[in-house]
Amino acid sequence: MVETDDRSFTVLGIETSCDDTAAAVIRRRADGACQVLSNEVWTDHGDHAAFGGIVPEIAARSHVERLDITVTKAMTVSGLSFDKIDAVAATAGPGLVGGVMVGLTTAKAIALAHTKTLIPVNHLEGHALSVRLTETAPFPYLLLLISGGHTQLIEVSGVGRYHRLGTTIDDAAGESFDKTAKLLGLGQPGGPRVESAAVGGRYDRFQFPKPLERRAGCDFSFSGLKTAVREAAASLDCPTAQDIADLAASFQYAAARHLTQRTEKAMAIAAPAEPKSRLVVAGGVAANCTVKKMLQDLCAAKSWDLSFPPAKYCTDNAAMIALAGAERLAVGLIPPQEEALAMAPRARWPLAPPPEGAEIGGGRKGPKA
Ligand code: KG4
Ligand code: ZN
Repeated sequence: MVETDDRSFTVLGIETSCDDTAAAVIRRRADGACQVLSNEVWTDHGDHAAFGGIVPEIAARSHVERLDITVTKAMTVSGLSFDKIDAVAATAGPGLVGGVMVGLTTAKAIALAHTKTLIPVNHLEGHALSVRLTETAPFPYLLLLISGGHTQLIEVSGVGRYHRLGTTIDDAAGESFDKTAKLLGLGQPGGPRVESAAVGGRYDRFQFPKPLERRAGCDFSFSGLKTAVREAAASLDCPTAQDIADLAASFQYAAARHLTQRTEKAMAIAAPAEPKSRLVVAGGVAANCTVKKMLQDLCAAKSWDLSFPPAKYCTDNAAMIALAGAERLAVGLIPPQEEALAMAPRARWPLAPPPEGAEIGGGRKGPKA
């Protein structure tokens, strides 16, 4: 690969793969340091609440209504006009196709109207690189990506160079938080609701299973935990607020323990980095304090460096999409423009090819809850 990393790039990013309508402008300097000039996110949880999960059609309609305003705000806050940006990067998948189409089509229109480079971005690459918005996390690193649609362990050895070590065989980590929240009547978004409900709860009251405990490799499984929570809740006659807190705390602990145990296995497999190996955690579930604490303890025990992007860059945002575009510009990994402009939104788009014989993954299955 030819290194063309000799100048700075200013990129408008657009993210519409789920229920967040987001636009951001970032500048990546030639030395890799980044400045987030604006980072606008509009989240429309209200309209979905009555359905207990994200409804793709409602999300797509909300993106149509909000995206122009969000892009305008991102440009205004950045203090730049379109002629001062180098490129427009937009999520092209994986995600809910209706929403991705809104963002990608808007990006194409802006690129054509202002004669800018269009960069279709894999949403998972945005999460994988998001840590580099705020710190120098040199390649290679081991990535634990834990979001509403994905749970993966990936060796990241450079921009566009990803090797998958493990993935979930059923639910994603965030999905299991969302389903548990629904089961316990906590509402959505599930992750933060479970985390709040768990405050004051006893994590050791319910002994939930350790998924895949005797299975080699780094895959994950969350569906058994969800079933165990349902059975424990059903065994209580008329659950009190304390029962709900104990169930939430016990589930959260079991989920964090599972994530930590599988990560430990991946650490043993991942190629070591000099002078010190690094674990990077990204995706919405990385905002969870119990998950964070257990991974901190693991990294301290193994003498690994640990990076968590700030919470606003862990959950879906457009700064990470702009960054992925800027990083691609820096190393010359941009598709020919006729190809980029013809690209269709993708519901599925694995970041790293699955190991031989494994089931193809890398896409949201649909509404999260
Ligand atoms: O990365 P993200 O914003 O969107 C996807 O790409 O999926 O992740 C959203 C997921 C949701 O499932 C949400 O419940 C979960 O991240 N999440 C959390 C927390 N904050 C968000 N899970 C556990 N604890 C949290 N504090
Ligand atoms: Zn995401």
